[in-house]
Amino acid sequence: MAMMKAVRMYGYGGPEVLKLEDVPRPEPADGDVLVKVHAAGVNPVDWKIRAGYLRAFREFPLPFILGWDFSGVIERLGGGANGWKLGDEVYARPDLGRNGSYAEYIAVRASEIQRKPKSLDHVQSAAIPLAALTAWQAIFDAGNLEAGQKILIHAAAGGVGTFAVQLAKWKGAYVIGTASSRNHAFLRELGADELIDYNTTRFEDVVKDVDVVLDALAGDVRDRSYQVLKKGGILVTILGQASEEQAKAHAVRTAGVFVQPNQAQLQELANLVDTGKVRPIIEAVLPLAEAARAHAMNATLHTRGKIVLRVV
Ligand SMILES: NC(=O)c1ccc[n+]([C@@H]2O[C@H](COP(=O)([O-])OP(=O)(O)OC[C@H]3O[C@@H](n4cnc5c(N)ncnc54)[C@H](OP(=O)(O)O)[C@@H]3O)[C@@H](O)[C@H]2O)c1
Repeated sequence: MAMMKAVRMYGYGGPEVLKLEDVPRPEPADGDVLVKVHAAGVNPVDWKIRAGYLRAFREFPLPFILGWDFSGVIERLGGGANGWKLGDEVYARPDLGRNGSYAEYIAVRASEIQRKPKSLDHVQSAAIPLAALTAWQAIFDAGNLEAGQKILIHAAAGGVGTFAVQLAKWKGAYVIGTASSRNHAFLRELGADELIDYNTTRFEDVVKDVDVVLDALAGDVRDRSYQVLKKGGILVTILGQASEEQAKAHAVRTAGVFVQPNQAQLQELANLVDTGKVRPIIEAVLPLAEAARAHAMNATLHTRGKIVLRVV
């Protein structure tokens, strides 16, 4: 049996439940491709699942391979995986219900992958799919952000936020972000027009008449966000559910987004990267064997951009 290295989660708990080991290489089913993973992105959902925070929504069959971002090379085609050939360099945010990308190989639906940006290597490409698709689906699909509108992006310096800032700017919006002051200069370079240090300033004291709020923090931050929207504006949350009651009280709308795989959007993102409009921000690149350390770093809630695991 062909084997591969993978990091598997053996139970719900701290980073110590992750184990690097030799496991059977997956077989591509009909409609799948088998990808040799070169790099895997790390996202908060990885350590939230590991810690058991999402058990109310989904149980994972243990041992389980986490990781829902990758960039790599197609090594085998399952039946009916049309349009792809061996050696194609691809990236994706695959289905959450299947074993993930903290591994040397992943079997993934051909309908979920896309050619990675030509101008980036695999490590850089692996930082894109989940966070950039989330930003896209939140601000464009749910928020319908248009040129000339004003958007407030919470956690602008994070994985999702750094893409949201660039995508909103590319669209022609006026971009306001919340972040600690150490991130302000870098966020201005990415395209933010205005930045608010949440440690010293309450954003609701200085922001008003916003068309779209991207909420990546929930809690008190979300509660204080309804009032900065103009009437008819929309609060899009990527964390749980917004309050319909509060929305009604402020005459605003709400939407919730849980990111979905999307081949067409990955293609648009690759084009934006290759034409210099968008780039991934990567704080750290660690070897696959250090997945537990990557989780601990990401769980500080202060990652700038993304953390990526190098597999090859
Ligand atoms: N619904 C979905 O499909 C979906 C998809 C992706 C992510 N998410 C969720 O969305 C959240 C954000 O994801 P992410 O990948 O962007 O996380 P992340 O990269 O871990 O976010 C870290 C960033 O948050 C900022 N931050 C922390 N506290 C803040 C505050 N009070 N105000 C403003 N910024 C603050 C930090 O900036 P400073 O260092 O400057 O404080 C840091 O740059 C996570 O909870 C994640 O689980 C949901």
